[in-house]
Amino acid sequence: MSSAKPSKTAPGIARQLLAWYDRHARALPWRISPQDRAQGVVADPYRVWLSEIMLQQTTVQAVKSYFDAFVKRWPSVADLAAAETEDVMKAWAGLGYYSRARNLKLCADVVAQDHGGQFPDTEKGLLALPGIGPYTAAAIAAIAFDRPAAVVDGNIERVFTRLFEIGTPLPSAKSEIRAFVAEATPIDRPGDFAQALMDLGATICTPKRPACALCPLTDDCQARQSGRQEQFPVKLPKKAKPVRLGAAFVAERSDGAVLLVKRPDKGLLGGMTGIPTTNWTVRADGGTGAKSAPFEADWRSKGVISHVFTHFELRLEVFHAVVTHTPDHEGWWSDSDSLTGEALPTVMKKALSAAFPALFRKGKT
Ligand code: ADE
Repeated sequence: MSSAKPSKTAPGIARQLLAWYDRHARALPWRISPQDRAQGVVADPYRVWLSEIMLQQTTVQAVKSYFDAFVKRWPSVADLAAAETEDVMKAWAGLGYYSRARNLKLCADVVAQDHGGQFPDTEKGLLALPGIGPYTAAAIAAIAFDRPAAVVDGNIERVFTRLFEIGTPLPSAKSEIRAFVAEATPIDRPGDFAQALMDLGATICTPKRPACALCPLTDDCQARQSGRQEQFPVKLPKKAKPVRLGAAFVAERSDGAVLLVKRPDKGLLGGMTGIPTTNWTVRADGGTGAKSAPFEADWRSKGVISHVFTHFELRLEVFHAVVTHTPDHEGWWSDSDSLTGEALPTVMKKALSAAFPALFRKGKT
């Protein structure tokens, strides 16, 4: 593939994109609209930071209700720093990737204690905080502090590889893409520019069947001109994820209560609530079969559930037993009314659903 080159000057791209954003910006709970922004309303760095952490690997739709609940309960970074880690983990349950929640709390503590409750206003300062990597530092610097940082997430990668027909496969293309984004980022309104790109990628420049006819950059888009928009970004074939095996145990008392445990703080789902399971890890299977149960009971298989984590697929055979004697096992008994209100990660809900198919059918999962 020939090396990509801009077809239009950077200011032209920013101008057209910002004009489009002024009319089509999505209303999001953490966002200051371009109209309010123009009136001098400034973003709250706490809300920007919180939203960016939540949005890592999770969709806007899934994040909205969590974001609203967090800011209602902890309106400032000082409030979050004063919270119990346990309560933060519970409020996070269901968003996945629980190390993010742990780092969220750590970061709030550092900002409250070492920075007087004010987030640093530069990429470098932000990068030094727990849980903030290069993407998040750039996004907060741009959106909260209007710094001309080059913000590059998956949506923006798609937009730029199409605009300039960048044929280098991802992830190798990242630094090339970053250089294009840096060049296109305006000094004026860099935060709106980043958010405009995110919106364009989410609503118009979509992975499949992009709505090129509605795109403000359609005349500048090299991939559109050659009719190859769906061929970008180029990606190396994905490696199949390894499959790990394990077993999970739903122990039910005769009154319907179920045994729950707090998982060890270290490892996947660290510190989260669940039913007893065998010790699977990213690298190794756990015990399988009823013989690996934590205590003796009349275990019956309820089938296998699958859950895909970042680096592997976990297949858990779920066993159920009604226990007649209280087993000698750590944990607590959650009655059938409380069970749906427990802070259970999705994989645990799947396992419980194998034993009780109707349990999580209604309401939020
Ligand atoms: N995805 C990641 N950050 C975002 C933001 N601030 N607005 C919309 N989508 C996003």
